[in-house]
Amino acid sequence: HHVVYHSLVTSTQVIAHQLVNEGAREGTIVVADEQTAGKGRLGRTWDSQHETGIWMSLILKPLVDFRQAPQLTLVAAVALARALQNKSGQQIDIKWPNDLLVNGKKICGILTELQADPDRIKSVIIGIGVNVNHEHFPQEITDIATSLKKESGKNFDRAELITDILDEFSWLYEAYLTNGFSLIKPLWEAHSLSIGKKVIARRAKDSLVGIALGINENGVLLLQDETGHVHEIYSADIEI
Ligand code: BTN
Repeated sequence: HHVVYHSLVTSTQVIAHQLVNEGAREGTIVVADEQTAGKGRLGRTWDSQHETGIWMSLILKPLVDFRQAPQLTLVAAVALARALQNKSGQQIDIKWPNDLLVNGKKICGILTELQADPDRIKSVIIGIGVNVNHEHFPQEITDIATSLKKESGKNFDRAELITDILDEFSWLYEAYLTNGFSLIKPLWEAHSLSIGKKVIARRAKDSLVGIALGINENGVLLLQDETGHVHEIYSADIEI
């Protein structure tokens, strides 16, 4: 890995995009202690206090097509769930596609962004935010967010955790590139909170209610509505 460390940035995603434009290699990692404009999914902001969490972006250049891109988020989710669960002893649940929860509260989020030509993906930038040593969250998210510290009462070494996460990610990513998604899918399902449950999928233009059946080979969520029809969900907020 080539690690680019910053104390303070607007967003590690922004830095990662710049590095890609300057020709950054696969495996380049951007890490910051604090972000002033951390980005969440769906245009949201991400609370990125000083030295409390892990704020990092991974630059990947996999030879995958657009259909397969969602799989990479799931590879990252599995790596994070395994690393955080091993380190903390806490049960880590994945809520499709990219939320990691402990006791129903969010401990980690993943934001995957692409740089692409019309016909091919040039780079995939996986942004990872892990709430590690937070004791408090801003009022608006205090009921839905948690940290490893809040759940276990202990402080964690962020550098050690980053190493654990990258170790897990490296072998899973290699396995994914060589063998495809079939190895990742059961690992993802083992941590999944949604499968077999009735969920609401809130999409940009509509909402669907149904039973989450699982994910398909592309990492797309399969949702069966009450008529028995199975919908493929590419992007949504899932409420369980
Ligand atoms: C989400 O759940 O909405 C995704 C949150 C992703 C946050 C991380 S923190 C490091 C990287 N840089 C950002 O600006 N966002 C991601």
